[in-house]
Amino acid sequence: MPDTYIQIFKDRTALSLAVAEHFAETVTDAVTKRGRFLATLAGGNTPLPLFRLLAEPPYRQQLPWSQMVFFWGDELCVPPDDPHSNFKQAWQAWLAHVPIPEENVHRIKGELDPTAAARDYAEQLKAFAEGVLAWPRLDWVLLGLGGDGHTASLFPGSPADIDAKLAAIRVTADYEGRPAERVSLTPNVFNAARKVVLLATGEEKAGALANTLIGRRDPLRWPAQRIHPAEGEVWWFVDEAAVVHLPKSFRS
Ligand code: 6PG
Repeated sequence: MPDTYIQIFKDRTALSLAVAEHFAETVTDAVTKRGRFLATLAGGNTPLPLFRLLAEPPYRQQLPWSQMVFFWGDELCVPPDDPHSNFKQAWQAWLAHVPIPEENVHRIKGELDPTAAARDYAEQLKAFAEGVLAWPRLDWVLLGLGGDGHTASLFPGSPADIDAKLAAIRVTADYEGRPAERVSLTPNVFNAARKVVLLATGEEKAGALANTLIGRRDPLRWPAQRIHPAEGEVWWFVDEAAVVHLPKSFRS
C-alpha cells in the first residue's frame, strides 16, 4: 500500500493555496535530488485556481522553470486551441505566463486520431524513461475526481486490467457533454510515480470520494481505486463539502 495522506480545507481557495505550496516544495526537492522535475497535469475545473496561483509571484519568479517538464494525465481529442482542451486550459491559466522553455511542455496531440495520439504520447514519455520502464517516474501526478468516480480518463466500467506495457490508451466516454474521444495515461504510468496528488471539492464529489477511499475494493466501478503507486505517496487535497460521507475519524 502507498503512503496516503488526506488534507482537508475549508474551501477550494484555501485548498489551492496549500497545493501551490506543496507543489513548490516538491519541485525544489526533485530538482535538488535529481536535477529535474517531471509532472502531469489534470483537466477539469478544480485545478484552475491552483494554475492561476502558480502563474503569479512568488512562484513565477522562484521556480526553476527550465528544469521543470510538463505532461498531461489525459486529453480530449480536440485541437490545442479548443476550449475543451486540457492543454489549452493549463497553458492559458498558467504556463503561458511563466518562463518555461517550449520544449519542456509535452501535450497529448488531441488533433490526431486517438490511437495515433496515444502512440505519439507514449513515445514522448519514453524519451524520459527510467530504468526498465518505458516511461519516467513522475515527480508529481495531478488528478481530479469525477462525481462518477473517474480519474484522468479512466471511467467506470472501462477495463481495469490494462496491458502492463501500455503507457497511453484511447478512450471513448460520454461525460457531461464534453467531447467523447479521449486519450489517457494508464495506471501503469500513474502507479510508477513518486507522488500522486488528487483534488476533490464540493458535495457532488462526496459519494465518489467515500467509495474510493473506504468503499469495497471495486476498481471497475471506482476507477480512482486503480491509483496506488507502488513506491510513491498519495496526497488527497479535499474540501469540507467533499468529506461529508467519510467517517469522523478521517475528518479530525
Ligand atoms: C478531464 C479530466 C477529469 C477531471 C474530472 C474532474 O475531464 O479532462 O482530466 O478527470 O479531472 O472530470 O473534473 P472537475 O474538476 O471539473 O470536477
